[in-house]
Amino acid sequence: MIKRLIDWLKKPLGLIAVGIAFLALFSLAAYGISLTQTAPAQPVQFPHKTHVGFGIQCLYCHPGAAKGPSAGIPTEAKCWGCHNQIQKTQTSALLQPLKDSVISGVPLQWVPVAQVADFVQFNHRAHVAAGQNCENCHGDMSKVTVAENPQVFNMGFCLKCHQTVAGDNHELLVKLTDCGTCHY
Ligand code: HEC
Ligand code: HEC
Ligand code: HEC
Ligand code: HEC
Ligand code: HEC
Repeated sequence: MIKRLIDWLKKPLGLIAVGIAFLALFSLAAYGISLTQTAPAQPVQFPHKTHVGFGIQCLYCHPGAAKGPSAGIPTEAKCWGCHNQIQKTQTSALLQPLKDSVISGVPLQWVPVAQVADFVQFNHRAHVAAGQNCENCHGDMSKVTVAENPQVFNMGFCLKCHQTVAGDNHELLVKLTDCGTCHY
């Protein structure tokens, strides 16, 4: 369905429609920001601020970002590797759900906040390999308690940076703004 829609949109009439859709999306985006900038109810009030503050690297917990499409969320076993050695784990009410999960073997159900639709191809590896920092897209996570999405990952968000990155390199610009680069 989406594939056919995109094929149609690449035709001249479609491109006009895209222009109109952009205007509509632009106004929707403003509304969308107010909707998405709230943190969902997570199973653990996981503080990025505390962990990043201790110098733990993003890639230690999200190693997938350097290897493939998705960054991944750490397993309870990874959390426990540290937390079974941390005194506060014994007494912290915030860590009770983690302890329960480790004992019961029932994984924590994290609610995703940073997402694009299925018909968009996004690959972390390509971006990390090109030297893009996590911060460029996710904001400063060292200040965040429970993750919220500071950006709306709409098409304009991607294209704006792709245009900047390409600069005068026409060949790269064509590649990075081609519909088929992100939709296939
Ligand atoms: C100690 C492990 C740990 C470290 C270090 C860590 N994170 Fe996370 N991250 C998590 C966990 C757990 C979640 C899921 C909970 C949440 O969304 O708040 C998460 C969620 C996220 C999300 C939201 C993903 C989603 O859709 O649910 C982003 C974006 C993110 N982290 C980026 C970063 C960046 C950037 C850094 C480095 C500055 C970092 N993280 C460091 C454990 C970690
Ligand atoms: C590399 C070590 C490390 C890993 C991995 C790690 N943590 Fe932590 N975490 C810490 C340290 C250190 C503290 C601060 C403890 C203190 O204040 O005494 C902490 C604090 C916390 C707190 C705040 C506790 C409180 O009462 O203030 C929560 C909640 C938490 N971690 C959850 C998690 C979860 C969930 C994971 C896995 C997704 C995780 N941590 C992975 C080291 C780690
Ligand atoms: C060029 C922009 C960009 C950069 C750079 C980037 N991300 Fe992401 N990130 C995204 C987008 C877009 C999504 C949503 C992907 C999806 O839904 O398929 C996402 C999703 C995530 C998620 C949640 C879903 C998943 O992939 O598991 C985490 C965690 C995350 N990013 C962490 C990181 C970390 C850590 C870094 C740095 C090492 C990083 N990101 C660098 C754009 C970026
Ligand atoms: C902050 C800048 C930035 C943002 C935001 C960004 N990108 Fe990129 N993107 C890059 C860079 C840099 C490259 C690598 C360019 C090169 O080949 O030298 C790239 C390359 C790509 C490629 C080609 C990857 C390959 O395998 O060659 C795809 C696909 C892509 N981006 C999709 C996306 C999507 C989808 C989004 C939005 C959700 C997005 N990008 C947002 C900077 C960005
Ligand atoms: C750099 C990546 C990228 C390129 C290039 C790109 N798109 Fe997109 N497109 C996206 C993202 C991201 C979204 C938003 C997905 C979401 O809402 O989660 C999107 C959304 C869409 C949608 C759905 C609109 C909606 O309501 O959200 C259509 C249709 C679309 N794109 C068509 C196109 C066409 C046609 C082209 C070529 C002119 C194109 N795209 C080029 C990344 C890209």
